Amino acid sequence: MAIPFQFGHLADGENFINRQEEVNRLSTNFQSGVNTLIISPRRWGKSSLVAKVVKQLSTTNPTLRVVTIDLFAVRSEQQFLSLFAREVIKATSTKWEEWGENVRKFIGNAVPKIAFGNQPGADVELELSWADKKIDPLEIYDLPEVIAKKKKLKVVICIDEFQNIGHFADPVGMQKQMRSVWQKHQHASYCLYGSKKHFLTHVFTHQSMPFYRFGDLMYLPKIEISHWLKFIPMQFKKSGKKISTTLAEELCRSVSLHPFYVQQLAQRVWILTENETTHAILDKSLDALLNDNAFGFQRDVENLTATQINFMRAFKDGVKNFTTLETLTSYELGTQGNIKRIKAALEQKDIMDFPGPQPEFIDPLFELWFRRNF
Ligand SMILES: Nc1ncnc2c1ncn2[C@@H]1O[C@H](COP(=O)(O)OP(=O)(O)OP(=O)(O)O)[C@@H](O)[C@H]1O
Ligand SMILES: [Mg+2]
Repeated sequence: MAIPFQFGHLADGENFINRQEEVNRLSTNFQSGVNTLIISPRRWGKSSLVAKVVKQLSTTNPTLRVVTIDLFAVRSEQQFLSLFAREVIKATSTKWEEWGENVRKFIGNAVPKIAFGNQPGADVELELSWADKKIDPLEIYDLPEVIAKKKKLKVVICIDEFQNIGHFADPVGMQKQMRSVWQKHQHASYCLYGSKKHFLTHVFTHQSMPFYRFGDLMYLPKIEISHWLKFIPMQFKKSGKKISTTLAEELCRSVSLHPFYVQQLAQRVWILTENETTHAILDKSLDALLNDNAFGFQRDVENLTATQINFMRAFKDGVKNFTTLETLTSYELGTQGNIKRIKAALEQKDIMDFPGPQPEFIDPLFELWFRRNF
């Protein structure tokens, strides 16, 4: 029997729940050429959301072409430009036989090569190289608009894991070039998204940064509990098992509605449940989940300084004011001025967030693990 909860790959089909508002907003932006910037912590469902909209639109809008580029494994501007050019050419061609011709038509000095997998039925791939090794970034960034105009198409470029531009040699210079070209585009629009909330918030919302006010900024919210409370019991029921609404709610709340962890925990609970879920099963599953993730969490903590850990300890103990002499002394936090630096470091490392007067842990499972172990 297939396990009715999925994580680790994109949520789609009936596994994709709700996000109706975000789907509509993104879909409207894509169709009307409005740029979008999406930020959320890791594994909240950015990629699934974009993929859902792309899939929907590509079946209903033949003149709209959506290009999805994932920067996950890209580590230099050169690699990025080559990938960008390749994906734009592929998405705006009707069949692979046209790839070579379109490269020659639209990119000055690029040399196309069509590679065939050696297995029968394996994918055909386009490979690009540049004759004199000189890629002109401005020409490549302009490609979506040039092709869209020529072919009377609308093109949307989605760039996932956008925070990875931080690894390139000159991220800000590159962003300046992209923005200067893209802001003139009438037939192409852009959707940039990724995790590393702190970094991307800076990239997208700081006045001094090139992508400041580039488009509709979306902080992805969590999925409301009411949708999970329909989904989880239904998935149990379909496979002849049962979970009460109370336990389903407890399951969701124990991982603070984090979409990935909700699915992961629900899967564990489902596996351990023979007929009907009990409290003991839920507890056991949560312990197992913490166990599975302990190694990674330990590594995260190893990257923190003693004062950063002490700050988290104080927060865990319910301290509200971190700068009183008593707190500074009993938690060995150093001077008052240190607190600002500690907060900045925890934010920069994506461990904690400081949206209001009180800090928050970014990863709810990490928080649980920390509370149990420190
Ligand atoms: N709309 C949804 N309905 C149900 N589950 C979801 C939904 N969105 C996300 N999830 C769950 O969260 C997991 C992570 O989703 P996804 O990969 O889309 O997130 P992401 O924000 O792109 O993650 P990353 O930060 O790693 O790129 C999915 O595998 C799925 O288990
Ligand atoms: Mg993703």
